[in-house]
Amino acid sequence: MDFKFNVNKLFVKKINKVTHTLVPADFSGNLQELSDVQMKISKILDDMGEASAIAQCLKKSVTSASRLQGTDHIVYLLVDSIGNGGLGTIVGFLKTGSKNLFLFDEVGSCFQLRPRCVLDFYIHESKQRMGLGRILYQHMLEDECTTPEKLAIDRPSNKFLQFLQKHYGVHDIIGQNNKFVVFKGFFDDVYQPSNVIQSMQLDGFISAGTSRNNSNVTHERPLLRDYPKFHSPAARRSYGRHAAAKPIIHDGPALRQNNKCTGSDK
Ligand code: ACO
Repeated sequence: MDFKFNVNKLFVKKINKVTHTLVPADFSGNLQELSDVQMKISKILDDMGEASAIAQCLKKSVTSASRLQGTDHIVYLLVDSIGNGGLGTIVGFLKTGSKNLFLFDEVGSCFQLRPRCVLDFYIHESKQRMGLGRILYQHMLEDECTTPEKLAIDRPSNKFLQFLQKHYGVHDIIGQNNKFVVFKGFFDDVYQPSNVIQSMQLDGFISAGTSRNNSNVTHERPLLRDYPKFHSPAARRSYGRHAAAKPIIHDGPALRQNNKCTGSDK
């Protein structure tokens, strides 16, 4: 995507990180330059966010300058420095962030976690299927010291699911009843007290949460609150580490700081 201003003056690298400060990591300048940079970066985020929403047929943008405020979200912007007659062009972006989520493992145990999530991902239409998405995604994985199966994905498109399968062999979806998707391997090191905010075993979720998994993402599932058994102690199954009559509460650090459970941004 082209802009009227010189993108190369804002970003010197091919992939650049932007956070809620709306300033490139290597920025140095006076107050007036700072406000100019922030204005231009806001414009980039708003326009790219809108293009991504259109590409995903979403009613509103998931990514914008204002939606970065007060978050730990990171936007990775991919720049083509020779585009737009040498002014540089923005080819795509990837946004990650942490979210408080209720998530189910393969046997239907429910965990309240705060995983790192992929929230938005977009490569300009003219540049798709050229390996640029892969470059961006790989950069993010290395920057955040993670692997594809450890990330929760906010309502992935089919293109993105195919992308993950092709480049990372990730395809075994563990069914959830929110709009997030996690894959086999996600829970492998979740079973540590420090990672778990809350866990519980709920019969009502087992069939609903797993009956359509491993092949497709479904978005029409009821939400957690729609399951009557969620509130019923009789609904809890009694085996394994989740046999407690009451939910097991672990003192995860995130619980104390932020116990609000958030849903999809989309
Ligand atoms: N149809 C099916 N699969 C596709 C398509 C497509 N139109 N485009 C990309 N892919 C998948 C395929 O596996 C493809 O491999 P193939 O060409 O051999 O079939 C692979 O991605 C190509 O990999 P890259 O070239 O590295 O990926 P690309 O640069 O195209 O970026 C992305 C992938 C970001 C999904 C891009 O296609 C895009 O922006 N799509 C539109 C927006 C979108 O769906 N974003 C994800 C939303 S979900 C979220 O943000 C959490």
